[in-house]
Amino acid sequence: MSLLKRLGTTPDEGTSPDAPAAPPARTTTRLGAADGGVATPPRGGTSDLGALRRPTIAAPGNVAPRADSFNELKSRVQNRLISELDPRMDLANHEEVRRTVEETFQSVLEAENIVLTRVERLRLYEAISAEILGYGPIEPLLKDDSVSEIMVNGPRQVYVERSGKLVLSDATFQDDDHVMRVIDRIVSPLGRRIDESSPMVDARLPDGSRINAVIPPISLVGPTLTIRKFARDPLTSEDLIRFGTVSREMVTFLKACVEARLNVVVSGGTGSGKTTTLNVLSSFIPDDERIITIENAAELQLRQDHVVTLESRPANIEGRGEITIRDLVVNSLRMRPDRIVVGECRSGEALDMLQAMNTGHDGSMTTAHANTPRDALARLETMCLMSGVELPMRAIREQISAAVDLIIQQARLKDGSRRVIAVTEVQGMEGDVIVLQDVFVFEQTGVENGKIVGRMKPTGIRPKFVEKFEAANIFLPPATFGASYDRLF
Ligand SMILES: Nc1ncnc2c1ncn2[C@@H]1O[C@H](COP(=O)(O)OP(=O)(O)OP(=O)(O)O)[C@@H](O)[C@H]1O
Ligand SMILES: [Mg+2]
Repeated sequence: MSLLKRLGTTPDEGTSPDAPAAPPARTTTRLGAADGGVATPPRGGTSDLGALRRPTIAAPGNVAPRADSFNELKSRVQNRLISELDPRMDLANHEEVRRTVEETFQSVLEAENIVLTRVERLRLYEAISAEILGYGPIEPLLKDDSVSEIMVNGPRQVYVERSGKLVLSDATFQDDDHVMRVIDRIVSPLGRRIDESSPMVDARLPDGSRINAVIPPISLVGPTLTIRKFARDPLTSEDLIRFGTVSREMVTFLKACVEARLNVVVSGGTGSGKTTTLNVLSSFIPDDERIITIENAAELQLRQDHVVTLESRPANIEGRGEITIRDLVVNSLRMRPDRIVVGECRSGEALDMLQAMNTGHDGSMTTAHANTPRDALARLETMCLMSGVELPMRAIREQISAAVDLIIQQARLKDGSRRVIAVTEVQGMEGDVIVLQDVFVFEQTGVENGKIVGRMKPTGIRPKFVEKFEAANIFLPPATFGASYDRLF
């Protein structure tokens, strides 16, 4: 993408009255004396940015005009800077572009005689370099480690998730086109496109963050962008214990389940932490096993050596070349897997996955969208029906009950915390019904300072698959299940 297209501007814009490329000589512009900066008096001439010096700007609490004047200054400096940069510059050479932008930025400030505090200068430089080199107004949010998700709902509303809570950020875009340019910048290097004829796109940022964009006419609020940030350091079982997502006993139990090659489905609502839990479970797979992971957008981060990561692919512009999760599940069976880990079952691949689990690829794991373990079974049934293979319902249920050993139910609670709220064994069929038995359930004991307090309680029932533990030479103390020795033996 050319520099000009990247920024949605033309060289002429740099000389437009709004953004003069060469304003009258020796005009001093000052922004934000209220920030503690040294106020430098104008050195003659009248500034086009007179508005910047309006007292209201510095008035405490008067945020909107300040933001506007900052944006005005930003677009003015940016336009001048762009008009001075060589449009043929190779944007792929990040280092050089960065250096040139920095030098030009300094010279534009000097030429325009814009006096800023150090803080303001840095802020302006970061905002402008984010437009040129990064992803515009959301760049600081992408860099902010306390933000886990970014949701752009059109140009004026950018929500973020911090500590499990949604908050409105103060980032804004200029207009719909500005959001579109950022979306385009994300998807076009991947050979993908987004326009009226294909208004939705899934993609990934270079750092692995998962993104989804939907633009008008499908989105009525303007172009939207949802970014699930990629955790550089994925959460570990110790993190989950610390956050109260799971108890230590449960981790011991789940580790045993993975080592004993149980087939596990992590179930939960959207954003409830399914993939994270799946990643933690996968970390318990012994090092000497060959693991194949299959995902829509590779999010899992396995530490083992012997891992093959496969990613599905949408159809290209001509509608060809699609590789579905289902294709990959079928293909993985020919790759001598010890374990198949499917990021998420959404459709017909569930049937292939169940078949794999039933035919010697035990110890496989996946996630599904459902709100209770019983719902997860219903979802699996529906997904099997979506495979197009005509099987009677009873046969599907038998497949499910024979394949799945354990459902881990995850939820995002009202206080923003993510918790495992049930660990449930799939015991088998009774008549036409699949029998489920909870092994652990979350018991809420109260609310303290807005935080939900409770604990994972073993139900006292020893799961039937404990035999598999014993076969794998894994012995858990009976207290793990909350049972006394008397009840067990
Ligand atoms: N146990 C946890 N405690 C705190 N934060 C968590 C926990 N698990 C996941 N998260 C955070 O929540 C966000 C969503 O997690 P994750 O991607 O695992 O959810 P998901 O259920 O797979 O979502 P989706 O339905 O979109 O696939 C991430 O930012 C992740 O870092
Ligand atoms: Mg997920």
